[in-house]
Amino acid sequence: MRILGIETSCDETAAAVVEDGGTLLSNVVASQLTTHYKYGGVVPELASREHLRAIVPVVRQALAEAGLDYRQLDAVAVTQGPGLVGSLLVGLTFAKGLTFSLGIPLIAVNHIEGHIHAVFLEQKQRGGEIELPALALVVSGGHSHLFLLERPNETDYRYRLLGKTRDDAAGEAFDKVAKLLGFGYPGGPLIDKLAPYGDAAKVDLPLSRMKGNPLDLSFSGLKTAVLRHVRAADMEAEIAERRKLFAGGRPATIEPLLEVTPQATLDLVAAFQATVIEELLRRALKAAKGHDVRSLIVSGGVAANSGLRKVFADTPLPLYFPSLSLSTDNAAMIAAAAYPAFLRGDFASDEVTAQPSLSLA
Ligand code: KG4
Ligand code: ZN
Repeated sequence: MRILGIETSCDETAAAVVEDGGTLLSNVVASQLTTHYKYGGVVPELASREHLRAIVPVVRQALAEAGLDYRQLDAVAVTQGPGLVGSLLVGLTFAKGLTFSLGIPLIAVNHIEGHIHAVFLEQKQRGGEIELPALALVVSGGHSHLFLLERPNETDYRYRLLGKTRDDAAGEAFDKVAKLLGFGYPGGPLIDKLAPYGDAAKVDLPLSRMKGNPLDLSFSGLKTAVLRHVRAADMEAEIAERRKLFAGGRPATIEPLLEVTPQATLDLVAAFQATVIEELLRRALKAAKGHDVRSLIVSGGVAANSGLRKVFADTPLPLYFPSLSLSTDNAAMIAAAAYPAFLRGDFASDEVTAQPSLSLA
């Protein structure tokens, strides 16, 4: 049983082949970083055009690396949402055409469920099981969500939304703070690499205080606190120096950034990352306790953060992260999430279309 997964929800064109929901035969990701870098973020129209350019070669490569012919596929799975509508439509239209011509089923996958299934895929690959119910924390550029995950039977995964961000997603907060400090885009991986050079204890940043659902998250107050530090410390000159490093449109590397970054700024970066991690950990532990879960799953781009992985490692629950390459956007997770749907016979209709705001629960 082989499913070709296709993912084009944001700025990565990805295709992968997964066998029997647990064996990764190929996993190809074409990043658009060099296209969007000079704009300091993803430009939706450019993203759609880049997907259109990349989709055929990426799918061809995924099949070649899996050693398969199109006729050996049993289904195609594609991200239906959430994401950028123009980007989603490229993958969806391509997948529709492919399944139409091959006469095989199309499975529409929720991107957030995909992030969670990256973990199930790798566990299956190792021959291990994840004990359920589990708490799933999905933290990426678009979402910071806490789900209670149950599986009443082998093919039926059920999600209950316990909490979510009220403003910026965790990855978005990383990206915005990095931009504000002149570190470039995407901010998450850069802050991850810079944070170990700073001392988080030197800067006091506030944890969020919100009324209402205690499992909801918020990062806008933290972002404003960083902005206040920038203004108070008169950092304009050093920020301008850093921005020069990537003015040519090439992503800056860590060493030159470090040369133009004073220790106090590195301390601020470390404190910011530590505060985001603390927010996420507190909510995850609170939710886990309140719902008596057996495992904790952390997935999405921010799950690649090395500081977060270290801090979360101390949780008393069995903890599951995807490998780094399956934490950020990929199509293996889409093909993996489609497997239970394939077994249930849950196929997309001919009229299926993109849903930019699709929710999981
Ligand atoms: O899951 P993903 O690839 O795409 C979305 O579904 O949004 O996540 C991308 C986000 C970006 O905001 C990026 O800055 C963040 O994940 N990210 C990280 C790291 N790697 C990617 N954030 C913190 N530390 C990282 N190492
Ligand atoms: Zn994602």
